[in-house]
Amino acid sequence: MSAPNSSFDPVEVADLSPQAVAAAVTAALTAIAGASDLAELKDVRLTHGGDHSTLALANREIGALPPHAKADAGKRVGEARAQVRQALQARQIELEADRDARVLVEEAVDVTLPYDRRVAGARHPLTTLHERIADVFVAMGWEIAEGPEVEAEWLNFDALNIGPDHPARTMQDTFFIGSEDSGVVLRTHTSPVQIRSLLDRPLPVYVICPGRVYRTDEFDATHLPVFHQVEGLVVDEGITVGDLKGTLDHFAREMFGPETKTRWRPSYFPFTEPSLEFDIWFEAAKGGPRWIEWGGCGIVNPRVLAAAGVDSDRYSGFAFGIGIDRTLMFANDVTDMRDMAEGDVRFTRLFGAEF
Ligand code: PHE
Repeated sequence: MSAPNSSFDPVEVADLSPQAVAAAVTAALTAIAGASDLAELKDVRLTHGGDHSTLALANREIGALPPHAKADAGKRVGEARAQVRQALQARQIELEADRDARVLVEEAVDVTLPYDRRVAGARHPLTTLHERIADVFVAMGWEIAEGPEVEAEWLNFDALNIGPDHPARTMQDTFFIGSEDSGVVLRTHTSPVQIRSLLDRPLPVYVICPGRVYRTDEFDATHLPVFHQVEGLVVDEGITVGDLKGTLDHFAREMFGPETKTRWRPSYFPFTEPSLEFDIWFEAAKGGPRWIEWGGCGIVNPRVLAAAGVDSDRYSGFAFGIGIDRTLMFANDVTDMRDMAEGDVRFTRLFGAEF
């Protein structure tokens, strides 16, 4: 004898009436339409299409029906379940398509974006400083002049009133191309461009020449055998020391700020008379404010004008030269000049990657 079925739960006995089945289908279709993503649809499938759904439970009741009712109820429940299954499948396809479209947008990879795992290079700070200096003068209407680095000895020295016995002309300072009497040198300063500019251009002349120069110096923290200068030259009628001073004051303020002060000291260069050196009062980040020697300048020696075929009774001029490497050093607290020559990107990148 079997025991009474004490676990029988009347709630689980599903209603097989057409109304009840239709209501279950409606509930399922509403839930399916309301599922807004695949996770929600999964829950809906469990509730309305799974083993414990109303229709699955109803299906299980069919076996218990009297034979004449089985076929009718079986057809009804079967069709209802098929309808729900199809709706689930259709919604699944829709939501998958939605997801795929979204993923395509959200996870799109722009293969044209720059690839930055390899460190980007940077322009050399001497190049950008060159250009800043040039901009100050171009803004005043000056022209940029160029000359060769392999230069005629006559232009580098003689035409600039640096006579054959001048100590700078010895092997100690000058790189000669070939032998010492070849007449060809690596220019020791940018001043030969003064002569070239006067020979090439109609007067008046307002030019600057930034460029590389060579001297037989050691390669150490404070010397480089190759370094950079900017030469400036003006030749016009009525040019005085006042023009020179006003121009360089403006240059200093453009480079280092409107409060920058300048100081002038008498000096000597064979190609200028009188000659001056000029200092600027510079607020260094390290070491505080101090006077820094910035460059040499003066009124163009009439002998230089004569060498270039300029009438020195009618025209006068001024010239100046500054060291670009030195400028970078004091302006940016560079303590070892070799850092500027070695081309290590860890140095250049400190100045920012300007392109
Ligand atoms: N050429 C000089 C130098 O190399 C600098 C200078 C240029 C001085 C122009 C006066 C005028 O030291």
